[in-house]
Amino acid sequence: MTQAAPKAHLPDAQTVTAVRHWTDRLFSFRVTRPQSLRFRSGEFVMIGLMGDTGKPLLRAYSIASPAWDEELEFYSIKVPDGPLTSRLQHIKVGDEIILRPKPVGTLVHDALLPGKRIWFLSTGTGFAPFASLLREPETYEKYDQVIMMHTCREVAELDYGRTLVESLKDDPLIGEMVGDKLKYYPTTTREAFHHMGRVTDNLSSGKVFADLGLPPMDPVHDRAMVCGSLAFNVDVKVILEAFGLVEGANSDPRQFVIEKAFVGDGI
Ligand code: FAD
Ligand code: A2P
Repeated sequence: MTQAAPKAHLPDAQTVTAVRHWTDRLFSFRVTRPQSLRFRSGEFVMIGLMGDTGKPLLRAYSIASPAWDEELEFYSIKVPDGPLTSRLQHIKVGDEIILRPKPVGTLVHDALLPGKRIWFLSTGTGFAPFASLLREPETYEKYDQVIMMHTCREVAELDYGRTLVESLKDDPLIGEMVGDKLKYYPTTTREAFHHMGRVTDNLSSGKVFADLGLPPMDPVHDRAMVCGSLAFNVDVKVILEAFGLVEGANSDPRQFVIEKAFVGDGI
């Protein structure tokens, strides 16, 4: 006769250690890190909560913290009727989430050939993998210049990224490495801001090069990582290819790599 198993904790449970709400659509949170979890800055994992039917409800999330951090950080959308985020947005310190410790992804340094400049191109929560890579020492060891472009509709949606970038210079581990290598270029498209316009338009028109005093991209010196909506990723790819850059992968390092920030409706 088999005995009923003792009531267990959530499988792969991790404890929430901090939560910060940035807007009514965006929040970030930190959780404990499984001791066995090794990942490369820029990768994503599956996280979630236990569903009503007793099955885990999991979604892909970029790890927003760097590989050396003792905890894990995530930067999340709040989709009002989203199966996961309609609940996840209410987590509090001490709550448990599920985290499957199998990191994967293409936004990793290994997927790019050596270069002089690295461009991080993002919209919305597509900033998350770059929150990891901007705090990764390898980023500054490998490149002379790091350009972070992030576009949102409104100014408040840039706050998480701006706060993180501003904290870098005082970071005891990488502050000195960052030095003046990092150029931050946030823009909005639907609210007045000192720099405006889509990433795509600012690349195509050459405005970002003029504003930052950089030459146009070329395949010898420039590398790029892209993370945004599918439409954004498709449009950026065309522009990068027009500059002569070629898409790479973990198994075939080239000049740029792309990851979806989310899977859109009907896609
Ligand atoms: P879902 O049913 O998953 O989504 C409902 C709808 O909401 C989607 O069809 C889409 O239109 C919209 N939507 C979903 N996610 C977003 C988003 N991030 N921004 C704008 N609109 C969105 N989400 C994050 O918030 N942070 C991350 O770091 C992150 N990393 C991801 C990495 C990968 C590789 C992929 C594929 C997705 C990632 N996502 C991320 C999206 C995430 O997996 C979920 O879709 C999101 O958490 C919403 O879950 P949900 O169950 O509430 O709604
Ligand atoms: P826009 O306001 O001109 O649509 P969203 O909130 O819809 O995910 O968009 C986030 C940001 O990405 C917005 O600033 C939006 O600009 C921009 N964006 C959306 N689609 C594209 C695209 N295909 N190419 C470049 N930028 C885009």
